[in-house]
Amino acid sequence: MGPPTEARASAPGKVILFGEHAVVYGEPSLSLALDRRFRLRAATGAKATTVNHEPLDLRKHAYLAQALTLYWGDAPLRITTESDLPSAGGVGSSAALSVCTTAAALRLRTGQTPSAETVARGAFEAEYVTQGAASPNDTSVSTAGGAVLLSPTRAAGATPLWRIERGDRAWTVQRVELEPVPLVVATTGTRSHTAEQVAKVKRLVEREPAAREAVSAIGRLTLDGVDAIRAGDFSRAGRLMNRNHELLHALGVDTPELARLAKAARAVPGTFGAKLTGAGGGGSLVVLTEKAPALVRAFEDLGVRSFAVRSSPDGFEVTS
Ligand code: PMV
Repeated sequence: MGPPTEARASAPGKVILFGEHAVVYGEPSLSLALDRRFRLRAATGAKATTVNHEPLDLRKHAYLAQALTLYWGDAPLRITTESDLPSAGGVGSSAALSVCTTAAALRLRTGQTPSAETVARGAFEAEYVTQGAASPNDTSVSTAGGAVLLSPTRAAGATPLWRIERGDRAWTVQRVELEPVPLVVATTGTRSHTAEQVAKVKRLVEREPAAREAVSAIGRLTLDGVDAIRAGDFSRAGRLMNRNHELLHALGVDTPELARLAKAARAVPGTFGAKLTGAGGGGSLVVLTEKAPALVRAFEDLGVRSFAVRSSPDGFEVTS
């Protein structure tokens, strides 16, 4: 049997509950894979590489093109994608795309299903090169599914999955067993450009001691947040989310729209806490709430799109 002529991959989006941006500097983060997925199909036998019937565009399809360069080469492929996730919405669509492209390219090349660790490392590399800086957070949670904690060293009670090093930083990627966490994601409708926001925070961290202190404070708060969520203490977890949002504001990635949505969410009975999720500068807000339907209705009254999300144990999948 020759190599496969087609590969189909899918991977979940994610929300970061605690620790975005700080995780780029080696601090801990906690994320949940979502029950909303990205799907990609890649087939050989094309005349030129196309994405959803358009020629591959290195700017528009930067993540996809980078993963193909690293794991496939330049032989033409016909690629189609489908997504349940808002694009550039802070819920991990670029990471899920990088995971799917990496998994599909490796499957087409070898005819084998790559291991989760191989896909997570490969997709991180593709994101890192595309963004100029990144942590393995999004690509690891999208590969592994479930609840994932990144920290410099192994945390008590968590199961290590893999360890990724880059320069002088190292992240131990770990599985945490959590009861379902009731969340609502609200979208601002403004695109969040991860590379831009990561570069902005980097400039601030290099210049301002206060920004470096905010990064460390996010790291400490994340570990408290993991304990609170594990203990089912949502009131405490919510307060920590509010504080995390303030620290992200200090890092310059909050926007008036995100701040407005956070304020509105906190005023709705049943809300424990709210923060921006992902890179910020637009994108989405994540809210911990015991009254998801009421919150979704309150957002609707404000003309804001929101949806209740559930965490999902399912990580990437690839078949031929
Ligand atoms: O907005 P997203 O889904 O691309 O999340 C980015 C998370 C950051 O911590 C800001 C960057 C990273 O690579 O960890």
